[in-house]
Amino acid sequence: MLDVEKIRKDFPILKISENGRPLVYLDSAATSQKPMKVIGAISKYYKKYNANIHRGVYKIAEEATEAYEKSKKKVGALIGVKKIEEIVYTRNTTESINLVALSWAEENIKSGDRILISELEHHSNIVPWQILAKKKGAVIDYIRLNERKTKLDESSVERELAKNPKLVAITHCSNVLGTIVDVKKISKMAHERGAKVLIDGAQTVPHMPVDVKELDCDFLAFSGHKMLGPTGIGVLYGKSDLLDSMPPMFGGGDMIKTVSEQSFTPNDLPWKFESGTSNIEGGIALGAAVDYLKRIGMQNIRDHEKELTKYAIEKFNRISGVEVFGLGIDELDSRGGVVPFEIKGVHPHDVATIFDTEGVAIRAGHHCAMPLVVDILKKPALSRMSFYLYNNQSDIDTAVVAAERVKSKFNVR
Ligand SMILES: Cc1ncc(COP(=O)(O)O)c(C=O)c1O
Repeated sequence: MLDVEKIRKDFPILKISENGRPLVYLDSAATSQKPMKVIGAISKYYKKYNANIHRGVYKIAEEATEAYEKSKKKVGALIGVKKIEEIVYTRNTTESINLVALSWAEENIKSGDRILISELEHHSNIVPWQILAKKKGAVIDYIRLNERKTKLDESSVERELAKNPKLVAITHCSNVLGTIVDVKKISKMAHERGAKVLIDGAQTVPHMPVDVKELDCDFLAFSGHKMLGPTGIGVLYGKSDLLDSMPPMFGGGDMIKTVSEQSFTPNDLPWKFESGTSNIEGGIALGAAVDYLKRIGMQNIRDHEKELTKYAIEKFNRISGVEVFGLGIDELDSRGGVVPFEIKGVHPHDVATIFDTEGVAIRAGHHCAMPLVVDILKKPALSRMSFYLYNNQSDIDTAVVAAERVKSKFNVR
C-alpha cells in the first residue's frame, strides 16, 4: 500500500487552496502534479549547470549532456527497452505519434493501404492518420465498441484485422472511459498479419507497469507531463531496426553527422529525430520523475488507483441522478483510474464549475475524443475525475459533497 499522506507532502501544489478550500486535484489524466524532486531538478539545472548539450567540451556542458542522456536510460529502463537508442525525446504523445505518421508512415503507407485505430482514441491518435490518409489515399478503419459502449468488441478486432491493415495504432487506456485495452493480444494478432503496431501509452505508462518487450509493440508514445514530469517533454519508443529505416522528420542542428552544400548524413539514433536544441531541463526532470515513480513502484501505484476507482464508482453509483460510465467494479482489472460521470440534466461545464467552488478540480468537455464522446456516447460533454498516487479517499468524499451541491443547486432528484 502507498503511504499517500507522505507522498502528498512531496507535492507543494496540494497545499494551496482553491476558492478558499484545500485543492482536491482530480484531473491527472489531463496533466499530473509535480513533486519537489522534479521541480528541484529543473531549478538545479538552471542554477548549477545550464549549458547546451552535445556541443560544449567545458564541464557544465558535459554535465548537462550526461544528465540529459542518463534520463533516457531511466525512461528506457522503466518500459523495459533493450537498447537505449530506442528512446526518442519529443514534446509529447501527440508529437511522438506525428513523428511515426510523418516518417515511418510517409514512407510505408501507399494509396489504398489501411490504418486501423479504435473508437476509443484521443484526437492525437486520430487526426495524424486522417492527415496522412488524405495525402496518401489510405483508408482508416475503426475497431468498434461493444453494445454497452464500455470496451472494444472482440469480434470487431478480428473483423478489422482480417482487412490486413499496414498499421494498427491503438490506445492502451481510454482517457474518457478508463478502459484498458489488451494491446498485447492485439499486437500479436496484428503482427501475425504483417502489420506494425503503435501504442498510445499516455494513460498507462504513468500509472502501471508497462514493458515493451512483453507488449511487443513497434512504437510506444507517451508524455512526461502526465507522469510527474514537466510539460514539453514526451517519448517515442521504437524498435531500433524500424527507427533506423525511417527518415528524419525535421532537419537542422543535432540531427546530422555531416552537412555539405547539397546533402547531409543523418545522426545516429535517437538524435536523428531530435533536431535543434532539445528540452534539456525537461529531459533531466523527466529522469527525476521516473526515479520518483520507481521508488514508489508502478504496481503499487496501479493497485492504489484501482482501490480509489472502486471507491469512487461505489460512492457515485449511490448518488441518485448520477450516472457513471465505463466498466463496472467487477471489471476493475480492465479499468484505469478514470471515472466519467453525468449528473442528470446538468451540463458538465456547470458541474465542473460548482465542483471548483468546493475546491475540486475535475475536467468537463469532450476530452479530445469527439468521435467517442459526441458520436458514440451521444453526449455533448462529460464530467471526469481521474486519480493518481497522491489522491486519497477523502478527495473522493469531497467530490461526493460537490456532486450533492450540484444536485441541490439544480434541483436534481
Ligand atoms: C490517451 C491519450 N493520448 C494522447 C494524449 C495526448 O497527450 P499530449 O497532449 O501530452 O500530447 C492524451 C492526453 O490527454 C491522452 O489521454
